[in-house]
Amino acid sequence: MQKIFVRRLSILSIALILTVQIIAQSAHSSQGTTYLADGVSAYAKSKHGADGALFLDPFFIPTLQNLSGKKLLDAGCGAGPWSIYAAQYGAQVWGVDLQKAMIDRAQEAAHQAGLDQHIKFSVGSVAALAHEDNFFDCAISINVGCNLPLDVFGAHFRELYRVLKPGGIAIITAPASFATLFTDGTDPKEISTAIDQALATMNADDAQSVLGQLNTLTHIVRGTFVTKDGRVVRVNNENVLQEGDAIWRKIAGLAVPNFYHSERAYEDSIRQAGLKLVHVDRHHFASFSEWARSEFSLGREYVHHYPFAVFHVSKS
Ligand SMILES: C[S@@+](CC[C@H](N)C(=O)[O-])C[C@H]1O[C@@H](n2cnc3c(N)ncnc32)[C@H](O)[C@@H]1O
Repeated sequence: MQKIFVRRLSILSIALILTVQIIAQSAHSSQGTTYLADGVSAYAKSKHGADGALFLDPFFIPTLQNLSGKKLLDAGCGAGPWSIYAAQYGAQVWGVDLQKAMIDRAQEAAHQAGLDQHIKFSVGSVAALAHEDNFFDCAISINVGCNLPLDVFGAHFRELYRVLKPGGIAIITAPASFATLFTDGTDPKEISTAIDQALATMNADDAQSVLGQLNTLTHIVRGTFVTKDGRVVRVNNENVLQEGDAIWRKIAGLAVPNFYHSERAYEDSIRQAGLKLVHVDRHHFASFSEWARSEFSLGREYVHHYPFAVFHVSKS
């Protein structure tokens, strides 16, 4: 009896270890990235951080304020902040995300905001949308392309083209300047020591270990890391990356799995899908005096380098 109990216990332990390993290693999947449980919570809280408030949000939020009565697709909606924002301004919104944990958060937030009737959230891929052709007036894809492997990335843009009405518009945002370490202005030596320690301590084969160690680098606002020869290293030259490479990013308030796509790849994929690239915003502080006047604590690198690119496109 005791033997059977011990055997069952060990089978259970092995199953548990395997499950934990699968969860820990499933950060980059063939469909897109999966944020681990603490990542989902942190993302739901953090939005885009201080540099997002300056260099990202102002370049798509005004569009969301002008969609009253219009149909909006929030592709890769995450915990739903922009779906809710647009619905508050009168848009009819459909939010789609691959991760159920994100959709659960989004549904809860929409319910709390009293907007259940105005937003339909569903689990699905931005590369295979359930919507009919020519359905939406507008689509947003806010920092979603960087979560997609190469083939899914191209399919996402083709789907945006398909579901947009002729004359419809889309805003696609992406991280940029991958070789730049964007910081909160802390002494670079202190940050460099912390990076060395974190990289030395992590197990490159275990997503939980990599993300856990990157999470300790709280003074990095945006930074890119990649696994090379079994070790995680910081990217300080974009040429070491190839389109679609699995990468790790430390972003505002958390660390996440991502896939690398250059700005050129966004522009090419937009055009290849049949969409027209209207213009691209690439903002940073224009001068050191502007940087010094900022209410936010950000490093000097924000004077020369832009953390995001915002692609404004239309379907003619
Ligand atoms: C950086 S988050 C952005 C969330 C939201 N757009 C925002 O700005 O708050 C990226 C999201 O893309 C989702 N994602 C990754 N691959 C996807 C796919 N193939 N289809 C739909 N969503 C995907 C992730 O689950 C995650 O919620």
